[in-house]
Amino acid sequence: MSLFVVILAAGHGKRMCSDLPKVLHPLAGRPMLEHVFRTADSLSERPPIVVHARSGPSLAQALSGKEITWVEQSKQLGTGHAVEQALSLIEVDSLVLILYGDVPLLKTSSLKRLVASATKTGFAVLTADMSDPRGYGRIIRGGPEFIERIVEEKDASDAEAEITEVSTGIMAVNARCLKSCISRLENNNGQGEYYLTDCIELAVADGVNVINVSLNDSDEAMGVNDRRDLARAERIYQRRAANDLMDTGVTLVDPTRVDIRGNVRSGKDVLVDVNVIFGGEVRLGNNVNIGPNNIITDCEISDNVSIFSNCVLESASIGSESRIGPFARIRPKSVLGNDVRVGNFVEIKGSNVARGSKVNHLSYVGDSEIGSRVNLGAGVITCNYDGANKHKTVIEDDVFVGSNTEIVAPVTIGKGVTIGAGTTVTEDIEPERLVISRSRQKTVPGWRRPKKN
Ligand code: UD1
Ligand code: CA
Repeated sequence: MSLFVVILAAGHGKRMCSDLPKVLHPLAGRPMLEHVFRTADSLSERPPIVVHARSGPSLAQALSGKEITWVEQSKQLGTGHAVEQALSLIEVDSLVLILYGDVPLLKTSSLKRLVASATKTGFAVLTADMSDPRGYGRIIRGGPEFIERIVEEKDASDAEAEITEVSTGIMAVNARCLKSCISRLENNNGQGEYYLTDCIELAVADGVNVINVSLNDSDEAMGVNDRRDLARAERIYQRRAANDLMDTGVTLVDPTRVDIRGNVRSGKDVLVDVNVIFGGEVRLGNNVNIGPNNIITDCEISDNVSIFSNCVLESASIGSESRIGPFARIRPKSVLGNDVRVGNFVEIKGSNVARGSKVNHLSYVGDSEIGSRVNLGAGVITCNYDGANKHKTVIEDDVFVGSNTEIVAPVTIGKGVTIGAGTTVTEDIEPERLVISRSRQKTVPGWRRPKKN
């Protein structure tokens, strides 16, 4: 049977106290809705249908580039009403999987189990056992095998509120049955809303056997309604991500002090010290050593590299055996070759630095092409910006640049050139020359310092 996936994402999210729609609040660096999208994306060939509200920053903008069918819910009259907006797009002889944009920790495998059960019986609800069920709809059973209805917390009696078996709100339903139930929903309840969860009672009254699929790990069911929930969800996500990373051969000195806001793929025998943040797509080779307090985003780091403490690396590629930091900043479009050394208080941007070159102290290298075995002394600066445009610096192999040298681009420094400390380079230099531009040192004999009167 063909499957339609519907994601509800139109709610106000009042409890977030925010101008940003709730489902766009980031979890591990990505909007919650994107997590739900990614979990569901592989389940059906059809793009998921996302129900969104009219006002506010656009969800479509935040998820641009993803294949999604957008449906508007002009007034937020409840989850049942939200699903109704999508019904005209759904064929009757299909199965519908309904997900919530604020339940971001679900695993694809759990949804597959739910869909498989609903394929057999026509109606399956995803449930969990929660030691603290507050905020969730409670499962009212007619028998051990049989769900009678779901009662929302605001409508629950004291006895019903004691029940710890909760509804995740997520369900898979035969489309014909769903359409029939939705059309009969009423809003005479504690919140004056059309509850999707009331469909269970209606289906049961029609003789449908509604079954449940229970989550082994109730963390998956977690709904995010306020910022405390969001922080809790973030920790659960990070714990999982840290465990996954350790399973691939990475030592995390403290798994509670690493944050993965994206994907990290790693080789073996990698060590990650405390307070490291990974963002975007990061690839680590074998035997990479990452010191404390590093932020590494969208980088490729090859075998045997050491990143010492307190570095920020973004969209860069680092060749094997290289050593970076402490206190280095590697900015986008930088490609460092093998065995490169970048030391403290060095910024590199949009530059290639070839094998064996060193930039060890207090330098800025921007829009440059640096050859092999080049040594840039302390305080070397490429002056790449004239106030209007950026220009390129080319430094060929085996160049030695003395400390505190300014290199005013555009300029090319030939192979094997030596530049004396304190030079300002403004013109191209032929290979193998010595260049120096500084006023001669003067010594004044017999000079005395002025004394205070
Ligand atoms: C819902 C369930 C509850 C379940 C809980 C799990 C209902 C009536 N209740 O409660 O049984 O235990 O989730 O997290 O379904 N939305 C819309 N349009 C609306 C209202 C909501 O698109 O008019 C969306 C929201 O953006 C959100 C989702 O539906 O992503 C759930 O809405 P929310 O108001 O958070 O429901 P809960 O009170 O958490
Ligand atoms: Ca919710």
